[in-house]
Amino acid sequence: MQNLPGHIAVIMDGNGRWAEKRGLSRSQGHLAGMDAVSSLVGECRSLNIPYVTLYAFSKENWNRPQAEVSFLFDLFLRFVRQEMPLMMKRGIRLGFIGDKRDLPLSVRRALELAMAKTSVNADMMLTLAISYSGREDILQAARRALAAGLSPEELDEKRFRSLMYAPELPDPDLIIRTSGECRISNFLLFQGAYAELYFTPLLWPDFDAQALHDALDEYARRERRFGRTSACAGSVEA
Ligand code: IPE
Ligand code: IPE
Ligand code: MG
Repeated sequence: MQNLPGHIAVIMDGNGRWAEKRGLSRSQGHLAGMDAVSSLVGECRSLNIPYVTLYAFSKENWNRPQAEVSFLFDLFLRFVRQEMPLMMKRGIRLGFIGDKRDLPLSVRRALELAMAKTSVNADMMLTLAISYSGREDILQAARRALAAGLSPEELDEKRFRSLMYAPELPDPDLIIRTSGECRISNFLLFQGAYAELYFTPLLWPDFDAQALHDALDEYARRERRFGRTSACAGSVEA
């Protein structure tokens, strides 16, 4: 495939509606969503996409019923344990963005262990965004800059980024959101400034390899300009 994005970020939305449509519980929707995560990761790895970032739980998602939140965190734990052998086999390194302090200790430990174990892998970086907020990411970088006593002149974009979550991650080239909602929901607000946005009505558990290929085809057709004149524009002379 030509013109593939180097970094794909996904807002995996619609598990609840997927379950509701089938008369199932929301938990069953999240379980089905986890299978879709495994297949997406495998497909991206096969395509040699170097960076994949998945929005698994937002800061705002703490406002959901406690039973749903616990179920989701159990699922994250299960996902990390279940995917470890595959991540080692396929050279996938695990990363994390979000507020670690919010995580249950068991999840935090499992993530830290998995990140340490997979740190030798270099073929793909899989980053999970859990208890993540784009605004918080920006705010905490500002707080760190103040705490470090940086002067306004010292704080340029490069320095600011170095104070944010996972500064080594390149900006996302493509942000995919499922479930038909056309919003960013506080995801990668700073880093996604020039990302191509792709919205699909598919609910997350239905997002399969074909759906990914459709998104990639659409991405390949887009012209990214970053503020420059279009490649097919005429000359400026009168
Ligand atoms: C996405 O599916 C999963 C998380 C936000 C954790 P939802 O649970 O938001 O599903 P809908 O939007 O209610 O269908
Ligand atoms: C966005 O989904 C967050 C994740 C996919 C983790 P939500 O379902 O929480 O988003 P809103 O509330 O519809 O904006
Ligand atoms: Mg939702």
